[in-house]
Amino acid sequence: MLVLCWKEVKVLEVITAEEAGFCFGVERAIDMVLKAAGENEDLNVYTLGPLIHNPQVVKKLEEKNVKVASSLAEIDSGIVIIRSHGVAPEIIEKAREKNLKIIDATCPYVKNAQKYASQLVDEGYQTFIYGDEDHPEVQGIYGASEKKAIIIREKQDLNSVELKARVGFVAQTTKSPESFRDIINLVITEVKELKVFNTICNTTDVRQSSARKLAEDVDIMFVIGGHNSANTTRLAEICAATNTPTYHIETAAEIKKEWLSGKNKVGITAGASTPDWLIREVVQLMNEENKDVNVESNENVEEKEEQVVEEVEETVEVTEETTEEKEADQTEEAEESVETEAEEEVETQEEAEFKYSDNDIADLRKGQKVTGTVVEINDNGVYVDVNYKTDGFIPLRHLSHRPVEDAHDIVSMDEEIEVVILTLEDDEGNMILSKKQADYEKAWEKIEEAYENDEIIEAEVTKEVKGGLVVDVGVRGFIPASHVAIGYVDELSDYVGETLRLKVIEVERDNNNVVLSAKKVLEKERAAKKEETLANLEEGQTVEGTVTKLVDFGAFIDLGGIEGLLHISEMSWGRIESPSEVLSEGEEVEVKVLGVNKEEERISLGLKQLLPDPWEEFAEKHYEGEVVEGKITKLVDFGAFMEVEKGIEGLIHISQLSHKHVKTADEVVNVGDVREAKIINIDAEQERVGLSLKELEEKPEPKKESSSSKSSSSSSKSQSKKEEDSSSSGGATIREIVGDIFDQGE
Ligand code: F3S
Repeated sequence: MLVLCWKEVKVLEVITAEEAGFCFGVERAIDMVLKAAGENEDLNVYTLGPLIHNPQVVKKLEEKNVKVASSLAEIDSGIVIIRSHGVAPEIIEKAREKNLKIIDATCPYVKNAQKYASQLVDEGYQTFIYGDEDHPEVQGIYGASEKKAIIIREKQDLNSVELKARVGFVAQTTKSPESFRDIINLVITEVKELKVFNTICNTTDVRQSSARKLAEDVDIMFVIGGHNSANTTRLAEICAATNTPTYHIETAAEIKKEWLSGKNKVGITAGASTPDWLIREVVQLMNEENKDVNVESNENVEEKEEQVVEEVEETVEVTEETTEEKEADQTEEAEESVETEAEEEVETQEEAEFKYSDNDIADLRKGQKVTGTVVEINDNGVYVDVNYKTDGFIPLRHLSHRPVEDAHDIVSMDEEIEVVILTLEDDEGNMILSKKQADYEKAWEKIEEAYENDEIIEAEVTKEVKGGLVVDVGVRGFIPASHVAIGYVDELSDYVGETLRLKVIEVERDNNNVVLSAKKVLEKERAAKKEETLANLEEGQTVEGTVTKLVDFGAFIDLGGIEGLLHISEMSWGRIESPSEVLSEGEEVEVKVLGVNKEEERISLGLKQLLPDPWEEFAEKHYEGEVVEGKITKLVDFGAFMEVEKGIEGLIHISQLSHKHVKTADEVVNVGDVREAKIINIDAEQERVGLSLKELEEKPEPKKESSSSKSSSSSSKSQSKKEEDSSSSGGATIREIVGDIFDQGE
């Protein structure tokens, strides 16, 4: 009854959104700034613009001597940090000219958007950037497009643009995927060729949809983040649209108590530039609210306990049925029963550790932790000899914090275990013990120690819950979804049953709250590995790596904490349309290091360099004058290319297509045709093969000469005889011609 009364008190349920606070790009930028400030105490460190839209974080960075400069003109020397929004290449250039040390913390996703915009412009596409032209990120992407791209804020902006045949699109990373899709759907029917790079960052999408879902489920929403942060304002709008009362706050201090009146469920989310400690402050405040309520309810329990004890004592006095000794026992039993119920519910115990000896028996008391030996295991529990007058008994439910079906799964005969004494003697004279309680205390000690010493602990994932995973660290631990791995995890349930290596990032023993992170362990290991890999990496080495991502222009290969780029042109000697023809994600691969820029942490890799050079093989196997079969792969103004072997394409110059006069190559051949051709030149060094169809045709009869042209033709006759001879022998004249052909071709 007393316990029910305690439970009936309504407490605030506080739920934090699955994706809240720093995104990967912002966290990375902050780490880079702190590292730069820590390692360069003697230099001025500036961020070009506030690092993030959060005044509290900017202030904290200022305390660490990181200043904000609004332009390069304000910086004379030292380090300039490019924030995650990125900047136009010309700014980097100017910083170089000023001899500043540049630390580029541009988010890799933003870097991609810049790269794709530049690629589209280079390839001659009419290039569009979908984004807000005033946003620094968009200005950086625009700069990367050499200011040739057209920025559109919404689809209506397209009405004033005349679309060309070949159109390309990139988007600001924080734009909504739906509206980008709308724009693409509009353009797709209007143009001949459309190339779209979806550069929208998944984090934003996940953050917004998890905020919306949470807002639909709670009574009140707090959206934490700078009032000047566009992404936090957007989050607040999304939550408010669900009709749940929503407050956009910068810090916990802005919360008014009356907002919480009548509310049971509180939802919390935060923008990408909101640090964890600001979120924690709000959660803490909610817990304080709960504590206030709990203190009240605990006081009620104590009052009622006293009442019951008094009632028992009164009854004893009035009836005078028992001796003084009995009265004392009954009172003690009544007290014990009340205390045990409350104690089991709240699970608080005295922490004093007690190691017994024969002489200590008389000192055993409830709440002590003692060591004993397992002497019997049965279906109901376990008997333990703690050197008391009777063996103590651990009921199944007190063996472990997990459900137990068979006590043998937890203990074995003669094993020494630690237990806490719950009751010295129950109604039947049994001593009741709890191994669960002893383990629970041990677990907390281990967690607190790991937290203080920044140690790694291992724990099994027991289930997936909203917003993360539950792990068994002797008590219930929680891993927020954003801390399960580096990057976004699609299927959290895949981790259930796995043992993870974790860092404790938050401990509140009073609130039974342990928050852990696998990401922090992985990040630290990755950083150490990266440092080692970079230090040992040299141009020309052959190294092993794993394909992490395939993109249109190549593949990213993890070399151990750091990724290198294998460009599509370095994958194969032959022509390939897509990197997936050669590699697949997750594949282990050997690659050659073509270039290493340790400062900018850029590594370029090659795969074809480890494969036999088909040109050398071709030159060994084939000879000038040989007739080979091949497939026409491409027609150009000056002839046609023919693939004669995998990776080897030769040129049939337009003059070698036929004896007849040929204006365009398609008069003689088409792409896909399989034809025989004569090799008239091989130059393996220059990777060139000259081919001729003409030489396989019968030579037409020479036209009858008119008397007037006789004399002039005699000299050309000797010339053509010379060429004919050279042609059949693959001699110098043909080589020169082919040389010219290639020069023209290029
Ligand atoms: Fe980068 Fe996405 Fe954050 S683009 S800065 S990870 S929101």
